[in-house]
Amino acid sequence: MQDTALLQEEILRLKEQKNAIILAHNYQRGEVQDIADVTGDSLELARAAAGMDGDVIVFCGVDFMAETAAILSPEKTVLLPAPDACCPMAGMVTVDELRFTRARYPEAAVVCYVNTTADVKAESDICCTSANAVKVVNAVHEDTVIFVPDKNLGQYAARFTDKKVLPWEGFCLVHDRYTPADVSLAKQAHPGAVALVHPECRPEVIDLADHVASTSGIISHVKSAPENEFIIGTENGILHRLARECPGKRCYPLSDTAICANMKKTDLVKVRDALVTLQPRITVPEEIATRARGAIERMLAL
Ligand code: 13P
Ligand code: SF4
Repeated sequence: MQDTALLQEEILRLKEQKNAIILAHNYQRGEVQDIADVTGDSLELARAAAGMDGDVIVFCGVDFMAETAAILSPEKTVLLPAPDACCPMAGMVTVDELRFTRARYPEAAVVCYVNTTADVKAESDICCTSANAVKVVNAVHEDTVIFVPDKNLGQYAARFTDKKVLPWEGFCLVHDRYTPADVSLAKQAHPGAVALVHPECRPEVIDLADHVASTSGIISHVKSAPENEFIIGTENGILHRLARECPGKRCYPLSDTAICANMKKTDLVKVRDALVTLQPRITVPEEIATRARGAIERMLAL
Protein backbone atom coordinates (compact mmCIF):
# COMPACT_ATOMS: atom_id res chain seq x y z
CA MET A 1 0.00 0.00 0.00
CA GLN A 2 1.45 3.32 -1.02
CA ASP A 3 1.08 6.31 1.20
CA THR A 4 -1.88 8.49 0.17
CA ALA A 5 -0.08 11.80 0.66
CA LEU A 6 2.95 10.63 -1.36
CA LEU A 7 0.74 9.45 -4.22
CA GLN A 8 -1.15 12.73 -4.19
CA GLU A 9 2.12 14.68 -4.37
CA GLU A 10 3.34 12.52 -7.25
CA ILE A 11 0.05 13.05 -9.11
CA LEU A 12 0.20 16.81 -8.69
CA ARG A 13 3.79 16.79 -10.01
CA LEU A 14 2.85 14.66 -13.03
CA LYS A 15 -0.19 16.84 -13.65
CA GLU A 16 2.08 19.87 -14.07
CA GLN A 17 4.55 17.98 -16.26
CA LYS A 18 1.83 16.71 -18.60
CA ASN A 19 -0.20 19.94 -18.59
CA ALA A 20 -3.19 17.92 -17.40
CA ILE A 21 -6.37 18.77 -15.58
CA ILE A 22 -8.16 16.33 -13.31
CA LEU A 23 -11.95 16.25 -13.23
CA ALA A 24 -13.73 14.21 -10.55
CA HIS A 25 -17.40 13.43 -10.06
CA ASN A 26 -18.96 14.05 -6.64
CA TYR A 27 -19.19 10.25 -6.12
CA GLN A 28 -15.46 9.62 -6.38
CA ARG A 29 -13.37 8.42 -3.45
CA GLY A 30 -12.46 11.29 -1.11
CA GLU A 31 -8.72 11.03 -1.76
CA VAL A 32 -9.37 11.29 -5.52
CA GLN A 33 -11.69 14.29 -5.11
CA ASP A 34 -8.91 15.97 -3.11
CA ILE A 35 -6.46 16.02 -6.06
CA ALA A 36 -9.01 17.18 -8.65
CA ASP A 37 -9.03 20.63 -10.28
CA VAL A 38 -12.82 20.44 -10.45
CA THR A 39 -15.12 18.17 -8.47
CA GLY A 40 -18.73 18.47 -9.53
CA ASP A 41 -21.91 17.07 -11.00
CA SER A 42 -22.23 15.90 -14.60
CA LEU A 43 -23.19 19.33 -15.90
CA GLU A 44 -20.33 21.15 -14.17
CA LEU A 45 -17.85 18.53 -15.40
CA ALA A 46 -19.13 18.74 -18.99
CA ARG A 47 -18.76 22.53 -18.86
CA ALA A 48 -15.25 22.19 -17.40
CA ALA A 49 -14.27 19.67 -20.09
CA ALA A 50 -15.50 22.05 -22.79
CA GLY A 51 -13.82 25.13 -21.40
CA MET A 52 -10.57 24.33 -19.60
CA ASP A 53 -7.01 24.76 -20.84
CA GLY A 54 -4.52 21.91 -20.82
CA ASP A 55 -3.47 19.08 -23.12
CA VAL A 56 -4.79 16.18 -21.08
CA ILE A 57 -8.05 15.59 -19.18
CA VAL A 58 -7.94 12.86 -16.53
CA PHE A 59 -11.57 11.91 -15.96
CA CYS A 60 -12.25 10.38 -12.57
CA GLY A 61 -15.77 9.11 -13.12
CA VAL A 62 -17.41 6.60 -15.44
CA ASP A 63 -17.06 6.02 -19.16
CA PHE A 64 -19.94 8.14 -20.51
CA MET A 65 -18.45 11.16 -18.70
CA ALA A 66 -15.03 10.68 -20.30
CA GLU A 67 -16.72 10.14 -23.66
CA THR A 68 -18.59 13.42 -23.24
CA ALA A 69 -15.29 15.16 -22.47
CA ALA A 70 -13.69 13.59 -25.57
CA ILE A 71 -16.62 14.73 -27.71
CA LEU A 72 -16.41 18.29 -26.39
CA SER A 73 -12.60 18.52 -26.50
CA PRO A 74 -11.48 16.32 -29.39
CA GLU A 75 -8.07 18.02 -29.48
CA LYS A 76 -7.28 16.91 -25.91
CA THR A 77 -6.09 13.54 -24.67
CA VAL A 78 -8.89 12.22 -22.43
CA LEU A 79 -7.93 9.52 -19.95
CA LEU A 80 -10.24 7.26 -17.93
CA PRO A 81 -7.96 5.79 -15.24
CA ALA A 82 -10.37 2.89 -14.57
CA PRO A 83 -11.35 1.78 -18.10
CA ASP A 84 -13.95 -0.68 -16.80
CA ALA A 85 -15.83 2.02 -14.85
CA CYS A 86 -19.17 2.11 -16.63
CA CYS A 87 -22.69 3.22 -15.82
CA PRO A 88 -25.04 0.21 -16.02
CA MET A 89 -27.96 2.57 -16.69
CA ALA A 90 -26.26 3.85 -19.86
CA GLY A 91 -26.36 0.28 -21.16
CA MET A 92 -30.14 0.16 -20.77
CA VAL A 93 -30.81 1.88 -24.11
CA THR A 94 -29.26 0.95 -27.44
CA VAL A 95 -29.29 2.76 -30.78
CA ASP A 96 -31.49 0.09 -32.38
CA GLU A 97 -34.09 0.28 -29.59
CA LEU A 98 -34.10 4.06 -29.76
CA ARG A 99 -34.52 4.09 -33.56
CA PHE A 100 -37.41 1.66 -33.24
CA THR A 101 -39.16 3.88 -30.67
CA ARG A 102 -38.48 7.04 -32.67
CA ALA A 103 -40.17 5.41 -35.68
CA ARG A 104 -43.24 4.71 -33.51
CA TYR A 105 -43.43 8.33 -32.32
CA PRO A 106 -42.15 10.40 -35.27
CA GLU A 107 -43.67 13.55 -33.77
CA ALA A 108 -41.59 13.26 -30.57
CA ALA A 109 -38.27 14.84 -29.59
CA VAL A 110 -35.65 12.56 -28.05
CA VAL A 111 -34.07 13.89 -24.86
CA CYS A 112 -31.18 11.74 -23.65
CA TYR A 113 -29.80 11.83 -20.15
CA VAL A 114 -26.03 12.39 -20.22
CA ASN A 115 -25.78 8.85 -18.76
CA THR A 116 -25.88 7.33 -22.28
CA THR A 117 -23.33 6.06 -24.76
CA ALA A 118 -22.01 8.43 -27.44
CA ASP A 119 -23.93 6.64 -30.19
CA VAL A 120 -27.23 7.07 -28.32
CA LYS A 121 -26.43 10.77 -27.87
CA ALA A 122 -25.80 10.91 -31.61
CA GLU A 123 -29.38 9.65 -32.20
CA SER A 124 -30.90 12.21 -29.81
CA ASP A 125 -32.11 15.76 -30.32
CA ILE A 126 -30.73 17.12 -27.08
CA CYS A 127 -28.91 15.90 -24.01
CA CYS A 128 -29.68 16.75 -20.36
CA THR A 129 -28.28 16.12 -16.90
CA SER A 130 -30.10 15.78 -13.62
CA ALA A 131 -29.42 19.49 -13.01
CA ASN A 132 -31.28 20.69 -16.11
CA ALA A 133 -33.67 17.87 -17.18
CA VAL A 134 -36.79 19.95 -16.45
CA LYS A 135 -35.41 22.95 -18.35
CA VAL A 136 -34.38 20.84 -21.35
CA VAL A 137 -37.73 19.02 -21.60
CA ASN A 138 -39.54 22.35 -21.54
CA ALA A 139 -37.15 23.86 -24.09
CA VAL A 140 -37.80 21.42 -26.96
CA HIS A 141 -40.41 22.50 -29.52
CA GLU A 142 -42.21 19.16 -29.74
CA ASP A 143 -45.17 18.39 -27.45
CA THR A 144 -44.06 14.78 -26.92
CA VAL A 145 -40.69 13.75 -25.51
CA ILE A 146 -39.05 10.33 -25.55
CA PHE A 147 -36.85 10.47 -22.46
CA VAL A 148 -33.97 7.95 -22.27
CA PRO A 149 -32.87 5.99 -20.33
CA ASP A 150 -33.81 6.91 -16.73
CA LYS A 151 -37.51 6.36 -16.08
CA ASN A 152 -37.30 8.07 -12.69
CA LEU A 153 -35.68 11.24 -14.02
CA GLY A 154 -38.13 11.22 -16.95
CA GLN A 155 -41.09 10.94 -14.59
CA TYR A 156 -39.62 13.66 -12.40
CA ALA A 157 -39.30 16.03 -15.38
CA ALA A 158 -42.88 15.16 -16.38
CA ARG A 159 -44.11 16.74 -13.13
CA PHE A 160 -42.97 20.16 -14.31
CA THR A 161 -44.18 20.26 -17.91
CA ASP A 162 -47.38 20.14 -19.95
CA LYS A 163 -45.60 18.00 -22.52
CA LYS A 164 -46.25 14.30 -22.82
CA VAL A 165 -43.11 12.53 -21.54
CA LEU A 166 -42.55 8.91 -22.58
CA PRO A 167 -40.01 7.61 -20.05
CA TRP A 168 -37.71 4.74 -21.03
CA GLU A 169 -37.43 1.70 -18.74
CA GLY A 170 -33.88 2.32 -17.45
CA PHE A 171 -32.89 3.10 -13.89
CA CYS A 172 -29.86 3.65 -11.67
CA LEU A 173 -28.99 0.58 -9.60
CA VAL A 174 -28.06 2.80 -6.64
CA HIS A 175 -30.90 5.34 -6.54
CA ASP A 176 -33.72 3.01 -7.56
CA ARG A 177 -33.00 0.92 -4.45
CA TYR A 178 -34.13 3.57 -1.98
CA THR A 179 -37.65 2.95 -0.67
CA PRO A 180 -40.22 5.18 1.04
CA ALA A 181 -39.54 3.13 4.20
CA ASP A 182 -35.88 4.25 4.07
CA VAL A 183 -37.02 7.89 4.10
CA SER A 184 -39.54 7.34 6.91
CA LEU A 185 -36.96 5.51 9.05
CA ALA A 186 -34.32 8.19 8.44
CA LYS A 187 -36.81 10.92 9.37
CA GLN A 188 -37.69 9.05 12.58
CA ALA A 189 -34.00 8.65 13.42
CA HIS A 190 -33.26 12.33 12.69
CA PRO A 191 -36.40 14.33 13.44
CA GLY A 192 -36.22 17.80 11.91
CA ALA A 193 -33.50 16.88 9.40
CA VAL A 194 -34.16 18.06 5.84
CA ALA A 195 -34.45 15.15 3.35
CA LEU A 196 -32.62 15.85 0.07
CA VAL A 197 -32.80 13.30 -2.74
CA HIS A 198 -31.54 12.93 -6.28
CA PRO A 199 -34.11 12.84 -9.13
CA GLU A 200 -32.88 9.35 -10.11
CA CYS A 201 -34.88 8.13 -7.07
CA ARG A 202 -38.29 6.52 -7.49
CA PRO A 203 -41.35 8.84 -7.55
CA GLU A 204 -42.62 7.53 -4.21
CA VAL A 205 -39.26 8.40 -2.60
CA ILE A 206 -39.27 11.84 -4.22
CA ASP A 207 -42.77 12.42 -2.81
CA LEU A 208 -41.38 12.13 0.73
CA ALA A 209 -38.36 14.38 0.18
CA ASP A 210 -38.12 18.04 1.16
CA HIS A 211 -35.92 18.96 -1.81
CA VAL A 212 -34.82 17.26 -5.05
CA ALA A 213 -31.58 18.19 -6.83
CA SER A 214 -28.49 17.01 -8.71
CA THR A 215 -25.46 16.15 -6.60
CA SER A 216 -24.03 19.67 -6.76
CA GLY A 217 -27.54 21.04 -6.23
CA ILE A 218 -27.71 19.03 -2.99
CA ILE A 219 -24.36 20.46 -1.86
CA SER A 220 -25.47 24.04 -2.63
CA HIS A 221 -28.71 23.46 -0.75
CA VAL A 222 -26.91 22.20 2.37
CA LYS A 223 -24.52 25.18 2.22
CA SER A 224 -27.20 27.82 1.98
CA ALA A 225 -30.02 26.31 4.06
CA PRO A 226 -30.59 27.67 7.55
CA GLU A 227 -31.09 24.14 8.94
CA ASN A 228 -28.21 22.12 10.38
CA GLU A 229 -29.21 18.51 9.75
CA PHE A 230 -29.80 16.76 6.44
CA ILE A 231 -30.67 13.30 5.17
CA ILE A 232 -28.80 12.71 1.91
CA GLY A 233 -30.49 10.50 -0.69
CA THR A 234 -27.74 10.02 -3.23
CA GLU A 235 -24.54 8.02 -3.62
CA ASN A 236 -22.45 8.31 -0.46
CA GLY A 237 -19.31 9.67 -2.12
CA ILE A 238 -21.02 13.06 -1.87
CA LEU A 239 -20.58 12.99 1.92
CA HIS A 240 -16.87 13.77 1.48
CA ARG A 241 -17.53 17.18 -0.09
CA LEU A 242 -20.37 17.87 2.32
CA ALA A 243 -18.07 17.24 5.30
CA ARG A 244 -15.30 19.38 3.80
CA GLU A 245 -17.40 22.28 2.55
CA CYS A 246 -20.15 22.36 5.18
CA PRO A 247 -18.26 21.60 8.41
CA GLY A 248 -20.94 23.02 10.70
CA LYS A 249 -23.71 20.82 9.26
CA ARG A 250 -24.59 17.20 9.95
CA CYS A 251 -25.40 15.02 6.94
CA TYR A 252 -26.76 11.49 7.33
CA PRO A 253 -26.84 9.03 4.43
CA LEU A 254 -30.34 7.85 3.53
CA SER A 255 -28.77 4.39 3.23
CA ASP A 256 -25.33 3.12 4.22
CA THR A 257 -25.31 0.87 1.16
CA ALA A 258 -25.78 3.61 -1.46
CA ILE A 259 -22.43 3.00 -3.15
CA CYS A 260 -21.85 2.97 -6.90
CA ALA A 261 -19.19 0.28 -7.38
CA ASN A 262 -18.21 1.72 -10.76
CA MET A 263 -17.56 5.17 -9.33
CA LYS A 264 -15.22 3.58 -6.76
CA LYS A 265 -13.05 1.80 -9.35
CA THR A 266 -10.83 4.87 -9.74
CA ASP A 267 -8.10 5.12 -7.13
CA LEU A 268 -4.93 7.18 -6.75
CA VAL A 269 -2.67 4.45 -8.16
CA LYS A 270 -4.76 4.30 -11.35
CA VAL A 271 -4.74 8.10 -11.65
CA ARG A 272 -0.96 8.16 -11.23
CA ASP A 273 -0.47 5.36 -13.77
CA ALA A 274 -2.76 7.09 -16.27
CA LEU A 275 -0.67 10.23 -16.02
CA VAL A 276 2.59 8.30 -16.47
CA THR A 277 1.44 6.26 -19.50
CA LEU A 278 -1.23 8.63 -20.93
CA GLN A 279 -3.47 5.56 -21.09
CA PRO A 280 -6.25 4.32 -21.03
CA ARG A 281 -7.36 6.88 -23.57
CA ILE A 282 -11.00 7.46 -24.54
CA THR A 283 -11.79 8.43 -28.13
CA VAL A 284 -15.06 8.66 -30.01
CA PRO A 285 -15.24 8.05 -33.79
CA GLU A 286 -15.59 11.42 -35.50
CA GLU A 287 -18.85 10.57 -37.30
CA ILE A 288 -20.55 9.72 -33.97
CA ALA A 289 -18.82 12.53 -32.09
CA THR A 290 -20.06 15.19 -34.53
CA ARG A 291 -23.71 14.20 -34.10
CA ALA A 292 -23.40 13.60 -30.34
CA ARG A 293 -21.71 17.00 -29.94
CA GLY A 294 -24.80 18.62 -31.44
CA ALA A 295 -27.01 17.13 -28.71
CA ILE A 296 -24.60 18.12 -25.93
CA GLU A 297 -23.96 21.62 -27.25
CA ARG A 298 -27.69 22.30 -27.60
CA MET A 299 -27.94 21.52 -23.87
CA LEU A 300 -24.94 23.68 -22.94
CA ALA A 301 -26.36 26.57 -24.95
CA LEU A 302 -29.55 26.65 -22.85
P1 13P B 1 -25.22 14.33 -11.16
O1 13P B 1 -23.95 14.51 -10.39
O2 13P B 1 -25.18 15.04 -12.44
O3 13P B 1 -26.39 14.68 -10.32
O4 13P B 1 -25.29 12.80 -11.59
C1 13P B 1 -25.57 11.74 -10.82
C2 13P B 1 -25.12 10.46 -11.38
O5 13P B 1 -25.63 9.45 -11.08
C3 13P B 1 -24.00 10.43 -12.28
O6 13P B 1 -23.76 9.14 -12.66
FE1 SF4 C 1 -24.73 5.09 -13.18
FE2 SF4 C 1 -26.11 5.27 -10.90
FE3 SF4 C 1 -23.49 4.79 -10.82
FE4 SF4 C 1 -24.41 7.19 -11.56
S1 SF4 C 1 -24.63 6.25 -9.56
S2 SF4 C 1 -22.80 6.00 -12.55
S3 SF4 C 1 -26.30 6.62 -12.64
S4 SF4 C 1 -25.07 3.44 -11.70
